[in-house]
Amino acid sequence: MTSRTDVIEAFAPAKINLFLHVGEKRGDGFHDLQSLVVFVDVGDTLAFSPSPELTLTLHGPFASGLEAEDDNLVLRAAQALAKHTGRPAAKAAIRLMKQLPVASGIGGGSADAAAVLRGLTRLWALDLSWTELRAVAETIGSDVPVCVESKASWMEGRGERVMPAATLPQMPMLVVNPGIAVSTAEVFRTLATRHGTGRINRATPLSSPRELIAFLTKTSNDLQAPAQQIAPVIGHVLDELSRMPGVELWRMSGSGATCFALFDDQNAAEMAQVALSHTHPDWWVRATRIGF
Ligand code: C5P
Repeated sequence: MTSRTDVIEAFAPAKINLFLHVGEKRGDGFHDLQSLVVFVDVGDTLAFSPSPELTLTLHGPFASGLEAEDDNLVLRAAQALAKHTGRPAAKAAIRLMKQLPVASGIGGGSADAAAVLRGLTRLWALDLSWTELRAVAETIGSDVPVCVESKASWMEGRGERVMPAATLPQMPMLVVNPGIAVSTAEVFRTLATRHGTGRINRATPLSSPRELIAFLTKTSNDLQAPAQQIAPVIGHVLDELSRMPGVELWRMSGSGATCFALFDDQNAAEMAQVALSHTHPDWWVRATRIGF
């Protein structure tokens, strides 16, 4: 029998790419990237308990989006960690409360995988550094290393080079998903023009809202145009966000379809949430903030 004290919980926060520049396609088929990634207080929750075998149960509003997959990132993360630490098998009962939309550009699956690495490290009483966990994470997916610590970071390479970002200002943010799953691989295949990597000065001061917005305005998400070609509703989301009073910047995250907007005050973000939830009851709309 499992007592409550055997249960370990982990939060898997959504990641937002404040900008995302794409470079060349590498020999391994992945593209070089450059991105500033932040994490918000909206996310999935996971619970881990001892078990004679590896099991996953899904709950929450977006559980059905994962039910068809028998090779999802959660199970792959558990197996990768077991292999890395020389265990003959991954043994744990994992419960996933899926609050984030699936295949949506906010790293839901990657954040879950990273939370599995953190949670099972504790459940199995492993002694692993962040560097080691990031190395295991890299074998699971490009966005998983940055989710291991889930702290504001610069991300480079295909996603495996993660550097801490300096303190960012507190700013309210609205996150909106129109309910369309977009394939990351297809977005990369559709990509035509790109910024390339290497032109960003990571020492740029970004500690005030004015500095952050001025910096972001000179950047973009190179995946936004191809994603919008695949899912035109993304253009509609961005149009709606651009019209919200108090909005400072609006953009797509990752390979979409989730978009975000930064606001000058919390009230404006909350008013925008109310307005958009009213006009688009089928969209997933969350008010959150960055820089905490
Ligand atoms: O690593 P992940 O499984 O998230 O990548 C999904 C797909 O997105 C890859 O198969 C690849 O086609 C594309 N991708 C890429 N360059 C990256 C990350 C992903 O081309 N840096």
